[in-house]
Order: sequence, then structure tokens, then C-alpha cells
Amino acid sequence: MSVRRLAPAEIQPASFAFSEENGRWSEGEIAKYPEGRQASAVIPLLWQAQKQHGWLPKPAIEAVAVQLGMPIIRVMEVATFYTMFNLEPVGRWFVQLCGTVPCHVKGALDLKQVLLEKVGDERHVTPDGNFSWLEVECLGACCNAPMVQINDDYYEDLTPDLLIGLLDDLAAGREVKPGPQAGRRSSEPEGEVKTLQDEALFDGSLVGAWRKRFEASTPKTSEAPAATATGDNDPKPGRPAANRPAQSSAADGPAQRAADGKEPIPQAAQDRADDSSKTSAVFPGSSSNPNPPQSSKSYVMTPSKPEDGRAAAGSLGTTPVSGAPGEGEPARRDGSDTKPVGADKDASPGVAPKE
Ligand code: FES
Repeated sequence: MSVRRLAPAEIQPASFAFSEENGRWSEGEIAKYPEGRQASAVIPLLWQAQKQHGWLPKPAIEAVAVQLGMPIIRVMEVATFYTMFNLEPVGRWFVQLCGTVPCHVKGALDLKQVLLEKVGDERHVTPDGNFSWLEVECLGACCNAPMVQINDDYYEDLTPDLLIGLLDDLAAGREVKPGPQAGRRSSEPEGEVKTLQDEALFDGSLVGAWRKRFEASTPKTSEAPAATATGDNDPKPGRPAANRPAQSSAADGPAQRAADGKEPIPQAAQDRADDSSKTSAVFPGSSSNPNPPQSSKSYVMTPSKPEDGRAAAGSLGTTPVSGAPGEGEPARRDGSDTKPVGADKDASPGVAPKE
């Protein structure tokens, strides 16, 4: 990681001001933000100042702070945090070498050696002013490692020879082409394509395959057609209706019975059916089974009112009382089973404390 310090005072310019054109541009940037939020334009303005001057001197940082009405230290924090801001002079061609792991394992150290030999020490401008270089962290082109950024462009898939040729071309004023330098296009696989070759991945034939598998593995029941009837329009298949509680339907209504030539249901039978005290829940499974399977555990709700049944405090439910010792445990002596002062020892949810 590079050290982020301002350049020595002797190379700092006496002052900085945006050119007329950049001044107009900076006003346009500031106007993008609502009143009171002008500080949001700090990075674009610092970037433009760097473009105008070649690097970012202290007077430019101060000028941006004044323009945005920010404390100078706030702008200084931004300028010294981001490596995109060059706080000291750089060469006409400023090379940033990625030294993070993917580039490192693909040969960044060899590129570093080339830069040391051809350009010199890091953060040092060549006597002709053409080159300087800096090692930086990942530049986000790891698929094409190792790589360098020169000014605003990426040069990828580099080898020492390719980098030497690149630097020579730049120095000689020859045109260079950004991007991968080893012949491949973008970040496509190097050499032979070995993955994602199945045509079915791209012709749409795999779409819905999961649904066919689901339907094939679902046991067919008499209710299955109704359960899957929505499948044609609904990408989510209906769940099998088997084992759901039986539900009444209009097929047993008076009109249907009359149409079927059946006797109407007698009023006494209807009254019995309406009496909730004599009805019973229909359990999953066969509706003819009068004794549906029951769990050995009791999940019967505790009555919410004591008068409706046993009081919760007196019940021997499965939920232990908070702080009480477990079965077989000796009585506690550390006070963890005591209740707060003033609490009724018989109080429990749903039971009013005793006066
Ligand atoms: S590690 Fe070098 S670009 Fe990501």
C-alpha cells in the first residue's frame, strides 16, 4: 500500500484556480446536488483539478474546499484516502501496476522488475518526464491478470516482453491498443473452451425442466388433476391436494340434490349439523376413520381464562417455570429461583395477583 502524503512544499505551486472552462464545468457538477449537499461534488472537482494540473497539489485541495464551503481537512481526507489522486508529480505516462494476489500469482513480480529496470524506482519520474509508476491494489481486471493501468486505460494479459514493447511504443509516440495484449478478446477463456458448452443452456429447452421432474415424482391420486389444473398458466405447480381435510362443495346443496333426484336433507339433520357442540373436526386422511392418529404429546391449548378450565399456574404443562430447578435437580441456593420482591408466588399468566 502506498503512503499518502502531500508533496514537499518546495514543489507545491503557489496557487491554484480552475481554468475558465473547468470553472464552468465545476459549477455544473455542483448544481447536480440539492442545496446544502454541495460537498457531494468533492470527488469530481478534485479529479478535474488533477486533470488540469497533472497531479493534485495542496492549493488545489484548498481551492476545492473553499468552492464547496467545506473545512479543508475534510477535502484533505478525501484526497489522501483515494489512490486515484496523485499527491505528487507523475510522468506523462503514469503506470499503475496491480500487485494484488491474482496478478501476483500470474506474474506481476516480473512486470515490477521491468518497471524497476526501465523506469526506475517507484514514485520517481524519469528525467525526460515520460514515465513514473506505482504499485496499487486490485484494479478489478483480475480475469486478465497481470495488468497495469496507464493513465486512463488498462493493459492486460501482460508478460515482461509485452510490457517492454508497450513502454517502448509509448516513448516513441506510437499508437498502442488498450485491453488484453495477448490476443484474446475481452476476458474470454484462454485457449480451448472447456465449460458452458451444452447448447441446451442457451436454446431455452431447459426452462421448466424442474417442473417436469416435480410432476414425474409426484404420486398420482384421484385429486391430482384438480391440484395440477393451474399448472398450464401458473409456473408454480399446485401442491397435491391429497391428505387435505375434506371440504363441502355445492355438489351436495339442495338444488343439486333435487337435480340428482335425491331427497332433501331433513331439517333435524341440518340442525344437528349446525350444532357446533356435536361437530368434530375432519382430520387428514380417510374421512371415514373415526379415530384419527393422535400424537402422544399434548398440544391442547391452555385455557386463556381460568374459569374456562384449570388455571395455568396449577397445570402440569410441558413448559418449565422460569428459574425453577429441573426434575431431579437439588434446590438452588444461589437465589436464581427467587422472584422479584413484591411478586406474588402464585402469579402466572392469565391470573390476577393476589391482593
Ligand atoms: S488482482 Fe490485479 S486486477 Fe485484480
